[in-house]
Amino acid sequence: MTASYFDGWYADQSASSAKDRLMQRHLGLPSEVVPNNTLPWTGLAEVATMLRLEPGGRLLDLACGRGTYGGEIARRTGASLSGVDFSAEALNAARRAHPEADFRLGDITATGFGDDAFDAAVCIDAIQFGDPQSAGFAELRRVVRPGGRVVLTCWEARLRGDERVPKRLQHLDLAEGLGAAGFTDVEVQERTDWETVELGLNQEAAALDPGDDRALKSFHDEAVRSLPNMPLVRRVLATAVS
Ligand SMILES: C[S@@+](CC[C@H](N)C(=O)[O-])C[C@H]1O[C@@H](n2cnc3c(N)ncnc32)[C@H](O)[C@@H]1O
Repeated sequence: MTASYFDGWYADQSASSAKDRLMQRHLGLPSEVVPNNTLPWTGLAEVATMLRLEPGGRLLDLACGRGTYGGEIARRTGASLSGVDFSAEALNAARRAHPEADFRLGDITATGFGDDAFDAAVCIDAIQFGDPQSAGFAELRRVVRPGGRVVLTCWEARLRGDERVPKRLQHLDLAEGLGAAGFTDVEVQERTDWETVELGLNQEAAALDPGDDRALKSFHDEAVRSLPNMPLVRRVLATAVS
């Protein structure tokens, strides 16, 4: 998927709040939070704790989108926030929401930051977009200092190479990718509780009539596409040490 695809997607999101309200209800988000992923708010709290950031620590949000979750983690931990995304539209919204943070246009595989620039990094529902995916894991390893932690949320095919699931998930293996990039203490857990939340969200989105609301329409279409695939993928949370 290209940056211009995501620019259009974010422009549609900003023009409608109905989709946000639907997601907020299922994910348990406060009303001011604009979601770009399906991680429940309780999951965000877990991710923030797992990063083990100290106040003043340096956090990278890789593929940060509108900076929503990275901004909340920085607020909770007292860390300074940098974010990278290839969507200029998303970064404009991120900068408006978090003027204190450093948001930069860049790629999952080439952030533009220096070696060991961060104490921790988070990548929510986006590492699958790296091209190649191995370069995304390698970039995380390069920019997070030795001993720093990374936390990723994503999906994996239950059956490796399953051609029925979206192509970018068919061979994604977080444990293997993080290990090959040189991370240690790699732990990947399936989150059935998050799968249940996502199922409820997709069922409601697939059943609704989006009318001419473009954000709701793209969400509805994606839910219709995703529902049959949901049993074929597992929702995962990965942690590792650089
Ligand atoms: C599902 S959204 C998640 C956004 C954000 N992590 C969050 O949780 O709110 C995926 C994000 O990945 C970004 N993205 C996709 N491919 C990318 C790439 N190759 N380089 C940088 N960003 C990318 C998109 O622009 C989008 O913001």
